[in-house]
Amino acid sequence: MSAPYIVTISSEKGGVGKTTLATNLAIYLKALHEDLPITLLSFDNHFSVDQMFRINRPSAQGDVSNLFDGSNPDNLIEIGEYGVQFIPSSNQLHTLRRELDDPAALTRALAKSGLDGIVIIDTRPDLDIFTQNALYAADRVIVPVKDAPSMDNCRRIYDFFDSHGLSRRPLRILPCLVDGRIHYDGPFRDPYQLLKAYAINRGYRCMEGYIAKSPKVESLNTNPEGKIYPVLTHGRQTAVHVQMTHIARQIYLGSLDTEVRRMNEYRVDMAQARKEHQSAYETRLSDLEIGCLVCGKTLVNKDQIGPAGYFAQSSDQRISGFIEEECFTSLVFRYFYGAKRTIETHDPIWDLFRESAQRSYFLLQRAPHTRNFYQQKLSFYRFDDDGLEVSHKTIELQEFEKRLLSKERSELYPLLERTLFDDQGRLGDAFLLLRKVSSDLPEEILYDQNFATFARIMTKVSTQLP
Ligand SMILES: Nc1ncnc2c1ncn2[C@@H]1O[C@H](COP(=O)(O)OP(=O)(O)O)[C@@H](O)[C@H]1O
Ligand SMILES: [Mg+2]
Repeated sequence: MSAPYIVTISSEKGGVGKTTLATNLAIYLKALHEDLPITLLSFDNHFSVDQMFRINRPSAQGDVSNLFDGSNPDNLIEIGEYGVQFIPSSNQLHTLRRELDDPAALTRALAKSGLDGIVIIDTRPDLDIFTQNALYAADRVIVPVKDAPSMDNCRRIYDFFDSHGLSRRPLRILPCLVDGRIHYDGPFRDPYQLLKAYAINRGYRCMEGYIAKSPKVESLNTNPEGKIYPVLTHGRQTAVHVQMTHIARQIYLGSLDTEVRRMNEYRVDMAQARKEHQSAYETRLSDLEIGCLVCGKTLVNKDQIGPAGYFAQSSDQRISGFIEEECFTSLVFRYFYGAKRTIETHDPIWDLFRESAQRSYFLLQRAPHTRNFYQQKLSFYRFDDDGLEVSHKTIELQEFEKRLLSKERSELYPLLERTLFDDQGRLGDAFLLLRKVSSDLPEEILYDQNFATFARIMTKVSTQLP
């Protein structure tokens, strides 16, 4: 599968030449290697990319905000001037910023695309979630710095890499807007030498060379036509032209050198994570009781489950399994809702219960202070979707009168025996948590995310028990 080489330009400081570098780098790379696909995108809302590269009218099916909604990046690409393709900028990122919290979202989106060649990402002077996404995906990060304070800001970019377990290998400092007229006495002859020394001193690696400050370059985006001109076409006589060429060549060589692209690394990670999820799921599956926890009828057959109405797990995690819808509902009606007669499955009450059960968790536990064998009572709790108690009821286990809960007399017996009884046949300390499952796909409850929710609710309800 193809994997683009991703170059992110980032610094938390504004006005250091990020956008100028990103846009011109795209053009220089294209000029160096006509056949190399170059794709540019920006998470800044300044639309410089669009102004510089759009040929006519917008022609892509979206913009950079669609990179986060599952759109295929291939459909967001617009063919621009100088043979550079770009993804249009967006002025809607602020709304998305509140919802997005995954720094891997862009990497995931790009991993699904057919993008190839080199992708250049321009960012806002901010470590916001979009910048984080651009950093996470990068094979190379260029951090333009123009002075000592902007160098201090790099720290947070390095920290981001460290805290996400990413190698610092991609990171490179690039002195920008270097004023060539300034000369110092002493060991550092000019601002470039000084910045470089600063960087090395902090353990930051640098690109080779720098970008000089040039009035000509500055004038390229301040002209009456409101256009932004590239250095390549309008500033060939400047030192920046030579410097840009040099930077572009380094990036190109870097793209050849990098055997393992970040994107492929990520694809391997994803495959690995999928495998781990799969094996965690299979473990949960193999831990299940085969039969309905109430009536014993076989519900789990290899990886086929059904027809089950409820999933149940004991809080000591000794037992997990499914229960038929009818078995659980009639237990509840009979023992906890005090139904005098048997409620038939076509009774409207049945549907009412089934419907409200979707948004509930149920819990069975020995009532507090009834450890003594003769007084054991059973409490039945109902919690809402968020694990907050809705109601509870405690019943006497009449059957205990004869010191034994008789199998014949109680429909509760098999369930309690399978889940909550200890070796001596009494209710232990654990509780049983139950959750309605989808009748089409009962095993859904064992999927990572659903199971994590179940486990979270298990913890939450346990803190509310007496
Ligand atoms: N090499 C350069 N020489 C002089 N001015 C520059 C140079 N590079 C960028 N500029 C100017 O500096 C300002 C900030 O540049 P820009 O690329 O927008 O920075 P950033 O994206 O980091 O905010 C712009 O006015 C731009 O024209
Ligand atoms: Mg910018």
